[in-house]
Amino acid sequence: MPYFKNPDVLIIGSGGAGLSLALKLASHDTHVTVLSKFALTSSSTYYAQGGISAVFDAEDSLESHIEDTLDAGAGLCDPEIVRLTVTHGKSSIDWLQEQGVVFTEEQDPSGESKLHLNREGGHSHRRVVHSADATGKAVALSLIERAQAHPGITLLEHHSVVDLITSPAHEAGQKQVLGAYVLDTENNCVNTFSAKVVVLATGGANMAYIYSTNPHSSTGDGIALAWRAGCRVSNMEFMQFHPTCLYHPVARSFLISEAVRGEGGKLILPNGSPFMYKYDTRGELAPRDIVARAIDHEMKKRGIDCVYLDISHKSESFIREHFPTIYQQCLEYDIDITKQPIPVVPAAHYTCGGVLTDSYARTDIANLYAVGEVACTGLHGANRMASNSLLECLVFAERACTDILQKLPTIPASPALPDWDESKVIDSDEEVVVAHNWNELRHFMWDYVGIVRTDKRLSRAMNRVKLLKKEIAEYYSHFRVTSDMLELRNLVIVAELIIRCAQQRKESRGLHYTLDYPELDQSQPPQNTILKP
Ligand code: FAD
Ligand code: SIN
Repeated sequence: MPYFKNPDVLIIGSGGAGLSLALKLASHDTHVTVLSKFALTSSSTYYAQGGISAVFDAEDSLESHIEDTLDAGAGLCDPEIVRLTVTHGKSSIDWLQEQGVVFTEEQDPSGESKLHLNREGGHSHRRVVHSADATGKAVALSLIERAQAHPGITLLEHHSVVDLITSPAHEAGQKQVLGAYVLDTENNCVNTFSAKVVVLATGGANMAYIYSTNPHSSTGDGIALAWRAGCRVSNMEFMQFHPTCLYHPVARSFLISEAVRGEGGKLILPNGSPFMYKYDTRGELAPRDIVARAIDHEMKKRGIDCVYLDISHKSESFIREHFPTIYQQCLEYDIDITKQPIPVVPAAHYTCGGVLTDSYARTDIANLYAVGEVACTGLHGANRMASNSLLECLVFAERACTDILQKLPTIPASPALPDWDESKVIDSDEEVVVAHNWNELRHFMWDYVGIVRTDKRLSRAMNRVKLLKKEIAEYYSHFRVTSDMLELRNLVIVAELIIRCAQQRKESRGLHYTLDYPELDQSQPPQNTILKP
């Protein structure tokens, strides 16, 4: 077997979480293979705009960052995880700079250069380190360049994991991961990879919705892989909708960063009147769930297709310097943001729930880790605060690295694993079914399991999921696997998990808002939703 198919550590995903972990492990002579479903840059990480939260301002403090995170999380954050993450803010930024990431700087009054800090919703201080308005691109390209140059790391694009391979439960009652079946989409074959340790770094599940800010890769594969293998999944009802995605017939998923509101951007109705202060005293800088719900409410009440975000009162030079990507992208759609407001709508953006992990990113299966948006660490609770996600990727990559390095010498080499069996399947002559089901699922998730939910809508969605699941299982057992089919099979599982979690929560909290239970349930302590396979 070629060495890259039998690495010490197999990392599934080439975003911020996967690549940071690969670089950290490889710097300790660990042999790592990183798989990416599409091109290496097809990740949410690459598209991140606003930045990475960390305490640098003299007026700011770790305690304040902790308090804001807990406040956004609406009673469900794990305070120890929040503290652990926030206290590693500065060292995470230092590490990225060592990897060559260049962040935007400004001069202080004495002429010294220092990091420029953005302000975003929920943060009571300026604390978002950024590379203009394309932080993710700067981070992703630096990490990719470093990983490509490292002899201990093999990067494989266009490799999509089909399923994890696990042993039966061993004496302690815990299953162990042994490797994965992987579809090489360029050569159209399924290969077997074995590894001592497997890491899920597959990102979120936001493509479960028809309107999303995410790239195509965010189909919740890691959550579905872990669930099928036997891991618990938590808090899937807390899907975050970003308030301001560009509304344009062609540009469906282009984000207008929260940093635009941080620099004074105002949300207005088509007639020019502002509305955010009707909903929250923090106005445009209220946490995202509040802003997204306010926009949704105004759109539904008035029957309008979008609202507008106006930054045109700032000077042209300020806008072009701070938001060069957004300026350029909007101009391509004939919107000059220095002169006119930007049409915006909310869109699915971030998956707060995911595979349940501990503070070292360990899952329920021995030697299987989950890092980044795929995981539910306890950091975000019921609502993630802006720019805490890239920080989580970095901090938990470091935590997983520490644990993996300690454990690796004690893990025996994987046994020989059975090859993928294709003897009973044929090539599909009905690909249209997959495309149709993809669309159907993403539409009903938007309509019935979106920003505002009801019991009735959730049960309508569940009925459709059950039908789709049956159809997809039948399709999967008859036809050779394709990338689209695998994603659909994962999306339908993720949709079911979102709905089941939402049905269990008989209250409105954080990102989960239901007209049937519009208030917080104060009668008992806040509970995380945990599903067992
Ligand atoms: P990703 O970066 O999404 O990477 C996932 C990787 O897994 C990809 O390489 C993908 O190809 C691979 N993969 C998935 N499934 C499979 C499979 N079956 N087989 C093989 N590979 C697979 N957060 C912030 O903190 N600050 C921001 O400013 C910010 N801005 C954002 C802007 C946008 C437009 C978006 C979409 C998100 C933003 N976020 C931001 C959120 C943040 O970018 C993500 O949460 C974070 O980048 C997730 O990193 P990750 O490594 O976990 O996953
Ligand atoms: C943004 O720039 O608005 C996205 C920030 C985030 O999702 O954390």
